[in-house]
Amino acid sequence: MPHRPPIRTAQGSDLDALVELEKRCFATDRLSRRSLRHFLSAGQHQLLVCGEPVQAYILLLFRRGTSLVRIYSLAVDPAWRGRGMARQLMEAAEQRAHEHQALFLRLEVAANNHPARALYSALGYHSIDTLPAYYEDGGDGLRLEKRLVRHLTQSPRLPFYAQTTEFTCGPAAALMAMEHLQPERQFSQIDEINLWREATTVFMTQGHGGCSPQGLALALSNRGFKVELLQSSDCIPFIDSVRREDKKQLIAAVHHYFVEQLAHTFTRVETTALTTERLRQALQQGYRTLLLISTYQLNRNKAPHWVWLVAMDDNFAYINDPDCDPDDRRSAIDNTYLPIRLTMLDKLLGYGKRGYRAAINFGNK
Ligand SMILES: CC(C)(COP(=O)(O)OP(=O)(O)OC[C@H]1O[C@@H](n2cnc3c(N)ncnc32)[C@H](O)[C@@H]1OP(=O)(O)O)[C@@H](O)C(=O)NCCC(=O)NCCS
Repeated sequence: MPHRPPIRTAQGSDLDALVELEKRCFATDRLSRRSLRHFLSAGQHQLLVCGEPVQAYILLLFRRGTSLVRIYSLAVDPAWRGRGMARQLMEAAEQRAHEHQALFLRLEVAANNHPARALYSALGYHSIDTLPAYYEDGGDGLRLEKRLVRHLTQSPRLPFYAQTTEFTCGPAAALMAMEHLQPERQFSQIDEINLWREATTVFMTQGHGGCSPQGLALALSNRGFKVELLQSSDCIPFIDSVRREDKKQLIAAVHHYFVEQLAHTFTRVETTALTTERLRQALQQGYRTLLLISTYQLNRNKAPHWVWLVAMDDNFAYINDPDCDPDDRRSAIDNTYLPIRLTMLDKLLGYGKRGYRAAINFGNK
Protein backbone atom coordinates (compact mmCIF):
# COMPACT_ATOMS: atom_id res chain seq x y z
CA MET A 1 0.00 0.00 0.00
CA PRO A 2 1.62 3.34 -1.04
CA HIS A 3 2.30 5.88 1.67
CA ARG A 4 -0.37 8.57 1.80
CA PRO A 5 -0.18 11.59 4.10
CA PRO A 6 -3.18 12.10 6.38
CA ILE A 7 -6.05 14.37 5.41
CA ARG A 8 -6.23 17.69 7.20
CA THR A 9 -8.20 20.93 6.94
CA ALA A 10 -6.35 23.48 4.83
CA GLN A 11 -4.98 26.56 6.56
CA GLY A 12 -3.88 30.02 5.47
CA SER A 13 -0.24 28.96 5.00
CA ASP A 14 -1.36 26.46 2.29
CA LEU A 15 -2.52 29.23 -0.06
CA ASP A 16 0.61 29.46 -2.27
CA ALA A 17 0.82 25.68 -2.62
CA LEU A 18 -2.87 25.48 -3.53
CA VAL A 19 -2.49 28.16 -6.21
CA GLU A 20 0.46 26.23 -7.71
CA LEU A 21 -1.39 22.93 -7.53
CA GLU A 22 -4.38 24.48 -9.30
CA LYS A 23 -2.09 25.62 -12.14
CA ARG A 24 -0.55 22.17 -12.49
CA CYS A 25 -3.90 20.37 -12.48
CA PHE A 26 -6.27 22.52 -14.55
CA ALA A 27 -5.72 24.21 -17.91
CA THR A 28 -9.03 26.16 -17.69
CA ASP A 29 -11.76 26.83 -15.10
CA ARG A 30 -9.16 27.29 -12.36
CA LEU A 31 -10.00 28.57 -8.92
CA SER A 32 -8.39 31.99 -8.56
CA ARG A 33 -6.11 32.91 -5.66
CA ARG A 34 -8.93 35.12 -4.40
CA SER A 35 -11.41 32.24 -4.42
CA LEU A 36 -8.94 29.91 -2.75
CA ARG A 37 -8.30 32.51 -0.05
CA HIS A 38 -12.04 32.75 0.48
CA PHE A 39 -12.31 28.98 0.88
CA LEU A 40 -9.52 29.04 3.45
CA SER A 41 -11.63 31.23 5.71
CA ALA A 42 -14.57 29.98 7.76
CA GLY A 43 -17.87 29.55 5.93
CA GLN A 44 -20.27 27.08 4.40
CA HIS A 45 -17.42 25.06 2.90
CA GLN A 46 -14.53 22.75 3.78
CA LEU A 47 -11.18 22.58 2.06
CA LEU A 48 -9.39 19.33 2.87
CA VAL A 49 -5.80 18.69 1.81
CA CYS A 50 -3.11 15.99 1.90
CA GLY A 51 0.59 16.62 2.27
CA GLU A 52 2.87 19.44 3.36
CA PRO A 53 3.29 21.21 0.94
CA VAL A 54 -0.12 20.33 -0.40
CA GLN A 55 -0.20 17.38 -2.81
CA ALA A 56 -3.96 17.12 -3.24
CA TYR A 57 -7.16 18.85 -2.17
CA ILE A 58 -10.90 18.51 -2.20
CA LEU A 59 -13.34 21.38 -1.77
CA LEU A 60 -16.83 20.80 -0.38
CA LEU A 61 -19.62 23.33 -0.38
CA PHE A 62 -22.56 23.11 1.99
CA ARG A 63 -25.73 25.07 1.72
CA ARG A 64 -27.32 26.34 4.87
CA GLY A 65 -30.72 24.85 5.53
CA THR A 66 -30.36 22.15 2.88
CA SER A 67 -29.19 18.53 2.83
CA LEU A 68 -27.01 18.82 -0.24
CA VAL A 69 -23.22 18.73 -0.33
CA ARG A 70 -21.43 19.73 -3.46
CA ILE A 71 -17.92 18.62 -4.37
CA TYR A 72 -16.75 21.80 -6.00
CA SER A 73 -13.23 20.73 -6.90
CA LEU A 74 -10.78 17.86 -6.55
CA ALA A 75 -7.17 17.74 -7.68
CA VAL A 76 -4.11 15.59 -7.11
CA ASP A 77 -0.62 16.76 -8.07
CA PRO A 78 0.48 14.88 -11.23
CA ALA A 79 3.51 13.56 -9.33
CA TRP A 80 1.27 11.95 -6.72
CA ARG A 81 -1.44 10.41 -8.86
CA GLY A 82 -2.31 6.73 -8.93
CA ARG A 83 -1.75 6.23 -5.19
CA GLY A 84 -5.34 6.36 -4.06
CA MET A 85 -5.22 9.98 -2.85
CA ALA A 86 -8.29 11.10 -4.75
CA ARG A 87 -10.24 8.09 -3.53
CA GLN A 88 -9.21 8.86 0.04
CA LEU A 89 -10.28 12.49 -0.29
CA MET A 90 -13.61 11.48 -1.83
CA GLU A 91 -14.22 9.08 1.06
CA ALA A 92 -13.42 11.87 3.52
CA ALA A 93 -15.91 14.09 1.68
CA GLU A 94 -18.58 11.44 2.04
CA GLN A 95 -17.83 11.16 5.74
CA ARG A 96 -18.23 14.94 6.16
CA ALA A 97 -21.47 14.80 4.20
CA HIS A 98 -22.75 12.10 6.59
CA GLU A 99 -21.83 14.30 9.53
CA HIS A 100 -23.91 17.06 7.93
CA GLN A 101 -26.80 14.60 7.55
CA ALA A 102 -26.69 15.22 3.84
CA LEU A 103 -28.95 13.34 1.53
CA PHE A 104 -26.75 13.44 -1.50
CA LEU A 105 -23.48 14.66 -2.95
CA ARG A 106 -23.29 16.32 -6.33
CA LEU A 107 -20.47 17.33 -8.63
CA GLU A 108 -19.72 18.13 -12.25
CA VAL A 109 -17.08 16.58 -14.41
CA ALA A 110 -15.89 17.20 -17.96
CA ALA A 111 -17.29 14.55 -20.27
CA ASN A 112 -13.78 13.86 -21.61
CA ASN A 113 -12.12 13.58 -18.17
CA HIS A 114 -11.87 9.80 -18.16
CA PRO A 115 -9.70 9.37 -15.03
CA ALA A 116 -12.11 11.45 -12.94
CA ARG A 117 -15.17 9.76 -14.43
CA ALA A 118 -13.67 6.34 -13.67
CA LEU A 119 -13.06 7.44 -10.08
CA TYR A 120 -16.60 8.75 -9.56
CA SER A 121 -18.19 5.77 -11.19
CA ALA A 122 -16.14 3.39 -8.98
CA LEU A 123 -17.43 5.32 -5.96
CA GLY A 124 -21.09 4.98 -6.98
CA TYR A 125 -21.83 8.34 -8.64
CA HIS A 126 -24.44 8.42 -11.41
CA SER A 127 -24.98 10.94 -14.16
CA ILE A 128 -28.18 12.95 -13.64
CA ASP A 129 -27.76 15.54 -16.38
CA THR A 130 -25.64 16.62 -19.32
CA LEU A 131 -24.29 20.16 -19.49
CA PRO A 132 -23.53 21.17 -23.10
CA ALA A 133 -20.57 23.58 -23.56
CA TYR A 134 -20.27 23.88 -19.83
CA TYR A 135 -16.55 24.58 -19.49
CA GLU A 136 -14.50 27.60 -20.54
CA ASP A 137 -12.90 25.57 -23.34
CA GLY A 138 -16.38 24.76 -24.70
CA GLY A 139 -16.26 21.17 -23.46
CA ASP A 140 -19.40 19.39 -22.28
CA GLY A 141 -19.98 18.56 -18.66
CA LEU A 142 -21.87 15.88 -16.77
CA ARG A 143 -23.69 16.38 -13.52
CA LEU A 144 -23.17 13.45 -11.18
CA GLU A 145 -24.84 12.54 -7.96
CA LYS A 146 -24.39 10.02 -5.19
CA ARG A 147 -27.27 9.34 -2.87
CA LEU A 148 -26.29 8.64 0.70
CA VAL A 149 -29.67 7.23 1.65
CA ARG A 150 -30.17 3.99 -0.14
CA HIS A 151 -33.93 3.75 -0.63
CA LEU A 152 -34.11 7.03 -2.56
CA THR A 153 -34.43 6.99 -6.29
CA GLN A 154 -32.28 9.09 -8.56
CA SER A 155 -33.08 12.79 -8.96
CA PRO A 156 -35.34 13.47 -11.93
CA ARG A 157 -34.44 15.77 -14.80
CA LEU A 158 -36.34 18.97 -14.29
CA PRO A 159 -36.77 22.21 -16.17
CA PHE A 160 -34.81 25.00 -14.57
CA TYR A 161 -35.15 28.74 -15.06
CA ALA A 162 -32.85 31.15 -13.18
CA GLN A 163 -34.44 34.48 -12.30
CA THR A 164 -32.79 37.28 -14.26
CA THR A 165 -33.58 40.05 -11.78
CA GLU A 166 -33.66 40.30 -8.00
CA PHE A 167 -37.41 40.69 -7.95
CA THR A 168 -38.60 37.98 -10.36
CA CYS A 169 -38.24 34.82 -8.24
CA GLY A 170 -42.02 34.26 -8.43
CA PRO A 171 -42.23 34.36 -12.23
CA ALA A 172 -39.05 32.30 -12.60
CA ALA A 173 -40.36 29.61 -10.23
CA ALA A 174 -43.66 29.66 -12.11
CA LEU A 175 -41.97 29.32 -15.51
CA MET A 176 -40.10 26.15 -14.59
CA ALA A 177 -43.24 24.60 -13.18
CA MET A 178 -45.16 25.68 -16.31
CA GLU A 179 -42.54 24.05 -18.52
CA HIS A 180 -42.89 20.89 -16.45
CA LEU A 181 -46.63 20.91 -17.13
CA GLN A 182 -46.23 21.83 -20.80
CA PRO A 183 -42.83 20.49 -21.91
CA GLU A 184 -43.34 21.67 -25.47
CA ARG A 185 -43.15 25.28 -24.29
CA GLN A 186 -39.93 27.26 -23.92
CA PHE A 187 -39.90 30.45 -21.90
CA SER A 188 -37.75 33.53 -22.09
CA GLN A 189 -37.03 36.65 -20.10
CA ILE A 190 -39.99 38.46 -21.61
CA ASP A 191 -42.33 35.79 -20.19
CA GLU A 192 -40.67 36.28 -16.82
CA ILE A 193 -41.08 40.06 -16.95
CA ASN A 194 -44.65 39.91 -18.21
CA LEU A 195 -45.65 37.65 -15.33
CA TRP A 196 -43.96 40.02 -12.93
CA ARG A 197 -45.68 43.09 -14.41
CA GLU A 198 -49.02 41.43 -13.81
CA ALA A 199 -48.31 40.12 -10.33
CA THR A 200 -46.05 42.61 -8.57
CA THR A 201 -46.94 44.45 -5.38
CA VAL A 202 -44.93 47.37 -6.86
CA PHE A 203 -43.05 48.09 -3.63
CA MET A 204 -41.23 46.01 -1.10
CA THR A 205 -38.56 46.71 1.54
CA GLN A 206 -36.19 48.04 -1.10
CA GLY A 207 -36.00 48.07 -4.86
CA HIS A 208 -38.85 46.81 -6.96
CA GLY A 209 -41.58 44.77 -5.36
CA GLY A 210 -41.80 41.04 -5.89
CA CYS A 211 -44.95 39.14 -6.70
CA SER A 212 -47.72 38.56 -4.23
CA PRO A 213 -49.50 35.19 -3.94
CA GLN A 214 -52.73 36.80 -5.14
CA GLY A 215 -51.03 38.50 -8.10
CA LEU A 216 -49.24 35.36 -9.17
CA ALA A 217 -52.36 33.22 -8.76
CA LEU A 218 -54.25 35.69 -10.96
CA ALA A 219 -51.53 35.77 -13.63
CA LEU A 220 -51.53 31.95 -13.78
CA SER A 221 -55.30 31.80 -13.91
CA ASN A 222 -55.24 34.32 -16.77
CA ARG A 223 -52.89 31.96 -18.60
CA GLY A 224 -55.50 29.24 -18.58
CA PHE A 225 -54.30 27.14 -15.63
CA LYS A 226 -56.48 25.67 -12.93
CA VAL A 227 -55.31 27.51 -9.80
CA GLU A 228 -55.67 27.10 -6.05
CA LEU A 229 -54.34 29.71 -3.65
CA LEU A 230 -53.47 28.60 -0.12
CA GLN A 231 -52.89 31.35 2.43
CA SER A 232 -52.56 31.33 6.19
CA SER A 233 -54.58 34.55 6.53
CA ASP A 234 -56.19 37.14 4.32
CA CYS A 235 -53.80 39.91 5.38
CA ILE A 236 -52.11 42.11 2.77
CA PRO A 237 -48.79 40.40 2.12
CA PHE A 238 -45.54 42.37 2.49
CA ILE A 239 -47.29 45.58 3.55
CA ASP A 240 -45.37 45.58 6.85
CA SER A 241 -42.07 45.61 4.97
CA VAL A 242 -42.49 49.24 3.81
CA ARG A 243 -42.59 52.22 6.11
CA ARG A 244 -43.94 55.02 3.96
CA GLU A 245 -47.66 55.49 4.10
CA ASP A 246 -48.03 56.26 0.37
CA LYS A 247 -46.27 52.99 -0.47
CA LYS A 248 -48.48 51.08 1.95
CA GLN A 249 -51.54 52.56 0.29
CA LEU A 250 -50.42 51.51 -3.14
CA ILE A 251 -49.60 47.96 -2.00
CA ALA A 252 -53.07 47.77 -0.46
CA ALA A 253 -54.75 49.10 -3.60
CA VAL A 254 -52.94 46.60 -5.82
CA HIS A 255 -53.78 43.78 -3.40
CA HIS A 256 -57.47 44.63 -3.36
CA TYR A 257 -57.48 44.73 -7.15
CA PHE A 258 -55.91 41.24 -7.31
CA VAL A 259 -58.43 39.87 -4.80
CA GLU A 260 -61.34 41.38 -6.70
CA GLN A 261 -60.08 40.05 -10.04
CA LEU A 262 -59.42 36.61 -8.55
CA ALA A 263 -63.06 36.47 -7.48
CA HIS A 264 -64.02 36.62 -11.19
CA THR A 265 -61.89 33.55 -11.98
CA PHE A 266 -62.33 29.94 -10.97
CA THR A 267 -59.40 30.18 -8.54
CA ARG A 268 -60.13 28.44 -5.26
CA VAL A 269 -58.81 30.42 -2.30
CA GLU A 270 -58.29 28.45 0.90
CA THR A 271 -57.28 29.93 4.23
CA THR A 272 -55.32 27.20 5.96
CA ALA A 273 -52.49 26.68 8.42
CA LEU A 274 -50.49 25.53 5.38
CA THR A 275 -48.68 22.64 6.98
CA THR A 276 -46.23 20.40 5.14
CA GLU A 277 -49.02 17.79 5.11
CA ARG A 278 -51.30 20.19 3.23
CA LEU A 279 -48.52 20.70 0.70
CA ARG A 280 -48.06 16.96 0.33
CA GLN A 281 -51.75 16.64 -0.39
CA ALA A 282 -51.47 19.23 -3.17
CA LEU A 283 -48.61 17.33 -4.82
CA GLN A 284 -50.54 14.09 -4.54
CA GLN A 285 -53.41 15.79 -6.35
CA GLY A 286 -51.03 16.42 -9.25
CA TYR A 287 -50.57 20.16 -8.76
CA ARG A 288 -47.38 22.09 -9.40
CA THR A 289 -46.83 24.05 -6.21
CA LEU A 290 -45.14 27.42 -5.81
CA LEU A 291 -44.09 28.21 -2.28
CA LEU A 292 -43.50 31.51 -0.59
CA ILE A 293 -40.60 31.10 1.83
CA SER A 294 -38.50 33.33 3.99
CA THR A 295 -34.84 33.00 3.03
CA TYR A 296 -33.61 33.65 6.57
CA GLN A 297 -32.69 30.01 7.26
CA LEU A 298 -30.93 29.76 3.90
CA ASN A 299 -28.88 32.93 3.71
CA ARG A 300 -29.67 35.01 6.80
CA ASN A 301 -31.61 37.55 4.70
CA LYS A 302 -35.17 38.03 5.77
CA ALA A 303 -36.51 38.31 2.24
CA PRO A 304 -39.68 36.75 0.86
CA HIS A 305 -38.81 34.33 -1.89
CA TRP A 306 -40.66 32.03 -4.29
CA VAL A 307 -39.52 28.49 -5.09
CA TRP A 308 -41.07 25.54 -6.88
CA LEU A 309 -41.83 22.65 -4.53
CA VAL A 310 -41.11 19.71 -6.81
CA ALA A 311 -41.61 16.68 -4.58
CA MET A 312 -41.80 15.39 -1.04
CA ASP A 313 -41.00 12.07 0.60
CA ASP A 314 -41.14 10.94 4.23
CA ASN A 315 -38.36 13.21 5.44
CA PHE A 316 -37.51 15.67 2.71
CA ALA A 317 -38.99 18.26 0.41
CA TYR A 318 -37.24 18.96 -2.90
CA ILE A 319 -37.28 22.42 -4.36
CA ASN A 320 -36.12 24.22 -7.48
CA ASP A 321 -34.81 27.57 -6.34
CA PRO A 322 -34.57 30.16 -9.15
CA ASP A 323 -32.11 32.34 -7.23
CA CYS A 324 -28.65 31.48 -8.63
CA ASP A 325 -25.45 33.32 -7.93
CA PRO A 326 -24.86 35.30 -11.17
CA ASP A 327 -21.08 35.11 -10.63
CA ASP A 328 -21.17 31.35 -10.33
CA ARG A 329 -22.64 29.69 -13.37
CA ARG A 330 -22.21 26.35 -11.62
CA SER A 331 -24.69 27.23 -8.91
CA ALA A 332 -27.76 26.14 -10.91
CA ILE A 333 -26.60 22.61 -10.04
CA ASP A 334 -27.36 23.26 -6.40
CA ASN A 335 -30.65 24.86 -7.12
CA THR A 336 -32.33 21.95 -8.85
CA TYR A 337 -34.10 19.29 -6.80
CA LEU A 338 -32.56 20.73 -3.67
CA PRO A 339 -33.31 18.52 -0.65
CA ILE A 340 -34.62 20.21 2.48
CA ARG A 341 -35.67 18.38 5.64
CA LEU A 342 -39.38 18.72 6.31
CA THR A 343 -38.61 20.20 9.73
CA MET A 344 -36.54 22.86 7.96
CA LEU A 345 -39.24 23.44 5.34
CA ASP A 346 -41.66 24.19 8.12
CA LYS A 347 -39.28 26.91 9.32
CA LEU A 348 -38.85 28.33 5.82
CA LEU A 349 -42.58 28.74 5.39
CA GLY A 350 -43.84 31.83 7.11
CA TYR A 351 -42.75 35.28 6.16
CA GLY A 352 -42.46 38.33 8.37
CA LYS A 353 -43.58 38.93 11.95
CA ARG A 354 -47.00 37.48 11.21
CA GLY A 355 -45.49 34.27 9.85
CA TYR A 356 -47.64 34.64 6.75
CA ARG A 357 -47.69 31.45 4.67
CA ALA A 358 -48.80 31.07 1.08
CA ALA A 359 -48.62 28.57 -1.74
CA ILE A 360 -50.06 28.45 -5.23
CA ASN A 361 -51.14 25.13 -6.67
CA PHE A 362 -51.71 25.04 -10.39
CA GLY A 363 -52.19 22.56 -13.16
CA ASN A 364 -53.54 22.09 -16.65
CA LYS A 365 -57.31 22.34 -16.89
C1 LIG B 1 -8.83 12.60 -11.36
C2 LIG B 1 -7.74 12.65 -10.28
C3 LIG B 1 -8.25 13.50 -9.11
C4 LIG B 1 -7.46 11.22 -9.79
O1 LIG B 1 -6.51 11.29 -8.73
P1 LIG B 1 -5.65 10.02 -8.26
O2 LIG B 1 -5.15 10.30 -6.89
O3 LIG B 1 -4.65 9.69 -9.29
O4 LIG B 1 -6.75 8.87 -8.22
P2 LIG B 1 -6.67 7.56 -7.30
O5 LIG B 1 -5.29 7.05 -7.30
O6 LIG B 1 -7.30 7.82 -5.98
O7 LIG B 1 -7.58 6.58 -8.15
C5 LIG B 1 -8.84 6.16 -7.70
C6 LIG B 1 -9.62 5.55 -8.87
O8 LIG B 1 -9.84 6.54 -9.89
C7 LIG B 1 -9.76 5.94 -11.18
N1 LIG B 1 -8.63 6.51 -11.90
C8 LIG B 1 -7.73 7.39 -11.42
N2 LIG B 1 -6.86 7.73 -12.39
C9 LIG B 1 -7.21 7.04 -13.49
C10 LIG B 1 -6.71 6.99 -14.83
N3 LIG B 1 -5.66 7.72 -15.21
N4 LIG B 1 -7.35 6.20 -15.71
C11 LIG B 1 -8.43 5.50 -15.36
N5 LIG B 1 -8.94 5.49 -14.11
C12 LIG B 1 -8.34 6.27 -13.19
C13 LIG B 1 -9.60 4.46 -10.94
O9 LIG B 1 -10.91 3.91 -10.82
C14 LIG B 1 -8.92 4.44 -9.59
O10 LIG B 1 -9.14 3.26 -8.88
P3 LIG B 1 -8.08 2.02 -9.03
O11 LIG B 1 -6.74 2.62 -8.70
O12 LIG B 1 -8.58 1.06 -8.04
O13 LIG B 1 -8.17 1.61 -10.46
C15 LIG B 1 -6.42 13.23 -10.85
O14 LIG B 1 -6.12 12.59 -12.05
C16 LIG B 1 -6.45 14.74 -11.10
O15 LIG B 1 -6.18 15.55 -10.20
N6 LIG B 1 -6.76 15.15 -12.32
C17 LIG B 1 -6.75 16.58 -12.71
C18 LIG B 1 -7.83 17.35 -12.00
C19 LIG B 1 -9.20 16.74 -12.21
O16 LIG B 1 -9.51 16.28 -13.29
N7 LIG B 1 -10.04 16.78 -11.16
C20 LIG B 1 -11.38 16.28 -11.20
C21 LIG B 1 -12.27 17.37 -11.66
S1 LIG B 1 -13.96 16.84 -11.75
